[in-house]
Amino acid sequence: MLPKCHNIDEVRTLAKRRLPAPMFHYIDGGADDEWTLNRNCSAYSDYQLLPECLRDVSTIDLSTTLFRQPLALPFFLAPTGMSRLFHHDKELAVARAAEAAGTLYSLSTLGTTSLEDIAAAISTPKMFQIYILKDRGLTLEFVHRCKAAGYEALCLTVDMAMAGNRERDLRTGMVMPPRFGLKSLWSFATHPVWSMNLALHPDFKLANVAHRVDALGGGAMGLIDYVNSQFDRTVIWSDVEWLRAQWDGPLILKGVLSSADALRAKAIGVDGLMISNHGGRQLDGAPAPIDLVRSIRQMVGDSMDLVVDGGIRRGTDIVKALALGANACSFGKAYLYGLAAGGQAGVARVLDLLKTEVIRAMTLLGCAAIAEISERHIHGLVETLNSPGQR
Ligand code: GLV
Repeated sequence: MLPKCHNIDEVRTLAKRRLPAPMFHYIDGGADDEWTLNRNCSAYSDYQLLPECLRDVSTIDLSTTLFRQPLALPFFLAPTGMSRLFHHDKELAVARAAEAAGTLYSLSTLGTTSLEDIAAAISTPKMFQIYILKDRGLTLEFVHRCKAAGYEALCLTVDMAMAGNRERDLRTGMVMPPRFGLKSLWSFATHPVWSMNLALHPDFKLANVAHRVDALGGGAMGLIDYVNSQFDRTVIWSDVEWLRAQWDGPLILKGVLSSADALRAKAIGVDGLMISNHGGRQLDGAPAPIDLVRSIRQMVGDSMDLVVDGGIRRGTDIVKALALGANACSFGKAYLYGLAAGGQAGVARVLDLLKTEVIRAMTLLGCAAIAEISERHIHGLVETLNSPGQR
């Protein structure tokens, strides 16, 4: 089945077939009317690639450096919660596919595999996604555990003061851990392989926080309850300064959209930004990351690494982001479709499809290396800047 998936959309279709509705829509959905979710993808169509001809493109080098780490690809896997929902091999399947492709793996605080187990399994760069929680002791515990386990980077999510309104989850009866309810019974019954694995591998614990959730009174505490009980709406820039002081490796902020915030982050020594609206899952109406990268780059200059996170479905999307000023791209949904469609092999298929597409796009664009991709490869941009009226 996987070899017959020729693009990310076809992997998505396979994932939809493999997953009960609550799990599929948890990956696939966004907040409110899903305007931002849809815009994340459609915004790439507003940019046209302008090739330069007659250049030597006999070998294409995709390697780059991001967050001080050498990577074989200009894209990586964004942190996403609860991979056990989508495949019983969980985060390990994703991390191993990232290692095989030579790119960065990021583990979410809300993962179902411990950060230590990931560190023991792969030797390529790893980033841990962190929140500044009400329980600052737990945040600090993560910093210490990441240092001990050899994580290269920390990524602080800053767009989760509260959970977004994901109406698909309400409709499908999505809960964590999964339960057979009236709304979801039919979809569990019609996906017997997934449901059998539910019984065989019932390890749905949020492995990195389970000890605290249990200490809080434990039991079948829903994720959203946990999110809303732990996420701290008082977190401000001085808390980021506090985190900066605890961690001397690369510190990344995920969820920055405004240029002014990007500048504030730079001023307090943040190394990189994931320009992200959380895959359209938080503030509906927020702009697409691809539309922001150019102005943020102009604001912060070249010293910060910028990542366009979200909406990636094609290699050309990645090339457009690089041309507009990103150092790399990241995505969650695209690889989670792969995970659901076929575990590690499914994630590998997604990475391979995008790699092949980026190589083809660069070849046709006339760029042999990542550093050669620039604004002049976006139609209308450089001409607009140099138009007679502005000279
Ligand atoms: C968690 O970060 C989610 O978006 O579900």
